[in-house]
Amino acid sequence: MAHFDSKRRQFLQFAAFGTVAAAWPGFILAEAAKMNNAPSSAFKPDVEIELTARPDTVSLKPGAATKVFKYHAQLIKGPTTTLTNMPSYFGPTLNFMRGQKVRIIAYNDLPEPTVAHWHGLHVPQKMDGHPMYAINPGERYIYEFEIKNPAGTNWYHAHTHEKTASQVYQGLAGLITISDEQEQKLALPNGEYDLPLVIQDRRFTVDNQLQYLQHGRHERILGFLGDTILINGQINRTIPVKTRAYRLRLLNASNSRIYKLGWEDGTPLTAIGTDGALLEKPETFPYIMLAPAERVELWVDFSGREVGSDLILQSLEYHGVMPHMGGGMRGGMGMMRGGLAQGSKFPLVKFHIAEKTSESPQLPAQLIKFQRLTDRDVANPDKPIQIGLSMRHMSPELNHRSFEMLAVAEWEKVPVNTIQKIRIYQEEHGMHGGGRRGMGRMEDDADGMEGRGGRRGGRGGMMEMAHPIHLHEQQFQILSRLIKDSHGSGYATVKDGFINSGWKDTVLVMPGEEVTIIKPFQDYTGLYLYHCHNLEHEDMGMMRNFLVS
Ligand code: C2O
Ligand code: CU
Repeated sequence: MAHFDSKRRQFLQFAAFGTVAAAWPGFILAEAAKMNNAPSSAFKPDVEIELTARPDTVSLKPGAATKVFKYHAQLIKGPTTTLTNMPSYFGPTLNFMRGQKVRIIAYNDLPEPTVAHWHGLHVPQKMDGHPMYAINPGERYIYEFEIKNPAGTNWYHAHTHEKTASQVYQGLAGLITISDEQEQKLALPNGEYDLPLVIQDRRFTVDNQLQYLQHGRHERILGFLGDTILINGQINRTIPVKTRAYRLRLLNASNSRIYKLGWEDGTPLTAIGTDGALLEKPETFPYIMLAPAERVELWVDFSGREVGSDLILQSLEYHGVMPHMGGGMRGGMGMMRGGLAQGSKFPLVKFHIAEKTSESPQLPAQLIKFQRLTDRDVANPDKPIQIGLSMRHMSPELNHRSFEMLAVAEWEKVPVNTIQKIRIYQEEHGMHGGGRRGMGRMEDDADGMEGRGGRRGGRGGMMEMAHPIHLHEQQFQILSRLIKDSHGSGYATVKDGFINSGWKDTVLVMPGEEVTIIKPFQDYTGLYLYHCHNLEHEDMGMMRNFLVS
């Protein structure tokens, strides 16, 4: 297919909505409008990749091949280790070094618009894959940025307006690993001992085709839940390992399923990395919660295990993430559609101890230097930015607003080169306190089911559910978590699985919970998204922009 440079058509379409002019300083508007469709001669790439999204077929089950969307990559310039192909539909892994200058020429060979976002990466606005930069079939978009992130596991995926969920579901995602000198000194397991584990759930039709949600808002509110678990795009994975230590890079690339990771035999999990970076030092957990878009790096040592034995990584049972329902909602929404319920127990992947070896690296006691951010570092210690999560009238919203392509509210304007405290909390329906007024457009909630339920039920949480909240741009730190007593029983089944240290870009906010984070907004100005990474919620509008200026 021939490729044509993107025109500014799409952007101008969005700009024509009008809200933009009032909210946006002109210079940023002008800057944003320049879509990147030609390589810049000033940019000298160390790495150059062509990345094409196109329809493909893969063999996932016996019988007919499955139609998918898949990223294909070709290395034009750079170290030969830059690309690692994954089996199946999952995109090739992009392996970068901190400090590298990367050019990615993205082509759209799909029958619909698309745009790629580099989840977790600290990049200029125009390179961030905002849906305003979606390209049409046959067009291309050129990304040029320097890798500023430290060593860690990030990923890329489609971020197309109202199509993120279906495009990621059909396969448009891949891993990004970043390495740096600090990490290399640690001599962590590498090569065949550094294993990606991308977890997804899917549903298949009788003729092996991917089945996505077909029903209405009720089903989308709950989010897509498949009945088949895939690891790196493959069903029933068994991974042969040796009796030694491994580094596992786990990514939850599912649309809405939350995993509670645990070893079958009760061995604690040793985490060495979170979303955006390695941890300061290894930490052990009885289990680890992994919500959509979250990553965790595990250190697992198979030495001492018997050759021929197996160790299964499971998702364990938990409660309390789905909507609290009352009144008219019971029944329809409460029913699980056959298969794997959210929070049920099932195996994820089996490690088969296949070979004995005596050499194995030691787990380092210290990993990276880490500085805890505190109130002293932030510009707004007493006035955190507030992000209220709500689901009223079957619409998941942020501060009672839905996504608008370019608009920003007053409280979404952030001065560049500041560090901000942000409070993300579940709204209590029917119990709006005066203090929250002024945050957003307050609707009369007397008419909604949520309102009635809220007043009746002491919890007021009729439509609360867990939301994995992701903020684009720099990684943040979790300052505190607060849970209301009324949500204790479900919460008790998940609370020991949150990694609250280290650098994060996605945080799971449970029903009844509020999480306060500290996030730097440095180096770059422009529009940066924040949203629920339950992809159905995101596409339903649970997404907004920060304007950094
Ligand atoms: Cu993983 Cu806004 O995305
Ligand atoms: Cu959500």
